[in-house]
Amino acid sequence: MNEKVYVPPIKIQGIKTKLVPLIRQSVIMQPNSVWIEPFMGSGVVGFNIEPHKAIFADTNPHIIEFYNQIKSGIITSYVVRDFLEREGKLLEEGDDNYYYTVRKRFNNEHHPLDFLFLNRACFNGMIRFNKDYDFNVPYGHKPRRFAKAYVTKIVNQVSHVESLLKTHSWEFFCQPFETTIAMAGMNDFIYCDPPYIGRHVDYYDSWDEKSELALHKALVDSNAKFMLSTWDHNDYRKNEYIATVWNDCQRITREHFYHVGAKEKNRNSVIEALLTNYTVTGKQNTLLKENEQLSIFNMMTV
Ligand SMILES: C[S@@+](CC[C@H](N)C(=O)[O-])C[C@H]1O[C@@H](n2cnc3c(N)ncnc32)[C@H](O)[C@@H]1O
Repeated sequence: MNEKVYVPPIKIQGIKTKLVPLIRQSVIMQPNSVWIEPFMGSGVVGFNIEPHKAIFADTNPHIIEFYNQIKSGIITSYVVRDFLEREGKLLEEGDDNYYYTVRKRFNNEHHPLDFLFLNRACFNGMIRFNKDYDFNVPYGHKPRRFAKAYVTKIVNQVSHVESLLKTHSWEFFCQPFETTIAMAGMNDFIYCDPPYIGRHVDYYDSWDEKSELALHKALVDSNAKFMLSTWDHNDYRKNEYIATVWNDCQRITREHFYHVGAKEKNRNSVIEALLTNYTVTGKQNTLLKENEQLSIFNMMTV
């Protein structure tokens, strides 16, 4: 099994890079199963699972257009290097002004290369759109933002996806999760990483209780095997929907520590959960690192 985790060219808040090894060990697929990912975001999960056949979807049209242009050969690693070297130089000369020029250009023309540029030059690599569907993340100041080594890193990320798209049968659709899940057959595997309730980020990315209920219903109706990423609890709150909406699922939890500043007292943890409609065996324990505590326990079954 390939243990390396490849980071894709487009980043997004909530990216599941660190959970990929655990997800990879917990997925159950048949040789003819299609991987169905209705909330692809960066695509890091499916791109690393590397299923032969896959459907990737998202309501954010810019993510989908970016990958469709790689698939059709319009965006290549050469095109990306050329573009980022040129635009990076202009950013170095124009600084803030140039960033906002590109942001305005993107909001008028929606060019996927401008989307990549903004995603990698904006504050914290965020993706956020306002109510007019304009990208509105401010500039993430950094001297020599597109230095040669950084451009090469992004080019390698594009090149990796480019070669995957040549050898795998992957499709990309801009559509809501209901449409994507309806495409699943009972032998397929659906991995869902929806936005978290109450953490509304942007206008392609809103989520409420009605959406959570609709997602549960669509998954159950599909008769396919599914896995849902969500949060379980932190020191202050627990995710009430796990014991209500998702009480027919099994749950794997994993603790993540993160630091705010250097002091021990500022160490916080959040428990991430993977919910499945099948039993995960526990062999995934072998690859966890010291600070990655894993527990598997069954939820009550209705
Ligand atoms: C938490 S992110 C997924 C992150 C992804 N798993 C990763 O590791 O990069 C959620 C994604 O769901 C998309 N989304 C939000 N609402 C949606 C909906 N109703 N149908 C389909 N996609 C939706 C957002 O645009 C966003 O890209």
